[in-house]
Amino acid sequence: MIILAIETSCDETAVAIVKDGREVLCNVVASQIDVHALTGGVVPEVAAREHVKVMVPVVRQAFEESGLTWDDIDAVAVTKEPGLIGSLVVGRMAAAALAFAKDKPLIEVNHIHGHLYSNWLESEEDVEFPVLSLTVSGGHNELVLMRGHGDFEKLGESMDDAAGEAFDKTARLLGLSYPGGPAIEKAALEGEAVIDFPRAKMQGYNFSFSGLKTAVLYYMQDNPDAAVSDVAASFQSAVVDALVGKLMKAMEEFDVAEVHLAGGVSANKALRAEIVRRLDGRAVFRHPKKMAYCTDNAAMIGAVAYYLR
Ligand code: KG4
Ligand code: ZN
Repeated sequence: MIILAIETSCDETAVAIVKDGREVLCNVVASQIDVHALTGGVVPEVAAREHVKVMVPVVRQAFEESGLTWDDIDAVAVTKEPGLIGSLVVGRMAAAALAFAKDKPLIEVNHIHGHLYSNWLESEEDVEFPVLSLTVSGGHNELVLMRGHGDFEKLGESMDDAAGEAFDKTARLLGLSYPGGPAIEKAALEGEAVIDFPRAKMQGYNFSFSGLKTAVLYYMQDNPDAAVSDVAASFQSAVVDALVGKLMKAMEEFDVAEVHLAGGVSANKALRAEIVRRLDGRAVFRHPKKMAYCTDNAAMIGAVAYYLR
């Protein structure tokens, strides 16, 4: 089954064509990163207008890159929620119009479920359930137990900032570029985690990162000459500790076959390395096969639509 998928929940206009939930025939992403770098973050109204501008060219490019035509497409999939309302509307209207005009079924899916399925993309072997999946992005921070396709239990989430949001806001405090995740990761390579920033003690499987960001702010006010690289390394280590701590707690409670990491922050090498170290081979560990599948993309929407249709 070949699905044309559209994703516009935040600031990426993305169209992909995916076969049988795993094989990516094309994955086009028009990023608005340059536009939002000017404001240090996404302005929703601006994002929606940018989607309108590039939606049709991006669909055209997907057909050009894949060499397919509408005759090859079995269904159209689109992100229904959650996301920026204006941005979502552009994608949903485009998908509905295309499905209607081309007489194809329309499959609407949840964006977070899309991130969960980013680990199916290009995987050669079958994924084995149960899966413990940590989605960490700019907008979302969720720990989910997947018992089977569509059988998901949300174990916990962030009570305030998502991990990626904390990276972005802290980077701004430190005078680093946007998006903050890669900038902090790079700065951290030059520094050492010598500052003991507080770790929020959250109940169950919930997370909290806004206190950590404030701790960095106060630290910088008290120590204006501190090495940015050391602050970045210490901040990153505190985030990694909090995320991996909850993941390991869930590993003890649930007997899972696999542990998955998804979302933009899953690109972080320190986070991946700490998971591998603490898992110590007790479960298969997967993260998206490409950076393009970590951040928002439409291929994951094509994957989830296939499995949950
Ligand atoms: O999944 P995504 O593209 O957007 C949302 O759905 O929110 O994730 C973007 C987030 C940004 O906050 C960015 O700073 C973070 O992912 N990110 C990283 C890294 N690369 C991207 N965070 C930490 N380390 C990275 N290498
Ligand atoms: Zn996302």
